[in-house]
Amino acid sequence: MTSRTPITVPDVARRKRSGGSTPFTMVTAYDEPSARLADAAGVDLLLVGDSVGNTVLGRPDTLSVTVDEMAHHTRAVAAASPSALIVADMPWMSYHLDPMDAVRNAATLIRAGAGCVKLEGGANRAAAIAAITAAEIPVMGHLGLTPQSLLAMGGFKVQGKTKDAAAKLLADAEAIQDAGCFAVVLEGIPDVVANTITEALAIPTIGIGAGAGTDGQVLVFHDLLGLGNRTPAKFVRTYADIGTQITGAISAFVADVASGAFPSDAETYHAPKSFND
Ligand code: KIV
Repeated sequence: MTSRTPITVPDVARRKRSGGSTPFTMVTAYDEPSARLADAAGVDLLLVGDSVGNTVLGRPDTLSVTVDEMAHHTRAVAAASPSALIVADMPWMSYHLDPMDAVRNAATLIRAGAGCVKLEGGANRAAAIAAITAAEIPVMGHLGLTPQSLLAMGGFKVQGKTKDAAAKLLADAEAIQDAGCFAVVLEGIPDVVANTITEALAIPTIGIGAGAGTDGQVLVFHDLLGLGNRTPAKFVRTYADIGTQITGAISAFVADVASGAFPSDAETYHAPKSFND
């Protein structure tokens, strides 16, 4: 693939479909290979998601992920020097207490190589968003089924299913736009609610389980490629079953070693003829 012009925050902020652009794409990446492969595929944004907790680190949810862990994975993604914009998730409790603490934690992720940060929540996070953007760090919002609210939501449940809940989501979307967010992820909400929010906002919306009407779409790398260890959610499309291919390839290696078929003579270093002189 030919190298692309690096994608910036203003480039993404302009991608409202009402402005005539095609929907854009974001995929999660947690290390150099995943970032390099997704960037080569032409995605617009790479999200170093706190989903690293459950997709890569084998944890039940995202709540135990720390700023240091996010910085570690952001550095690995940045090592791929992608043209896609790198978004780093602010983990739970890194922006909930004091806005200055939120700015310091966001700066840690920018210094690790992110081009912007993402955080979850609505009007209740407006002060943190305003403080981070005042420090010249672009912020992406995240509303709906926000995994860091797992305990308060009582599980991973579709949100915005009543008129009141939908109205609160719209008010939260407007509040975080006013606080300075340049884009917002809408996760696990009915399409009609996502469409209403998308039409009401001047900033682009990025959907995951929010229907086809958002300005962009995001999927988790491991879900898209069949690398997960559980049945994917309804909104996931598994584009390739790489997990089965990996197990098949490693099984072939195990069988070849057992039978003596690996390594072959061609895969072996030989000493020069003079060795036995
Ligand atoms: O961490 C993550 O992967 C996310 C996506 C689900 C949007 O926040």
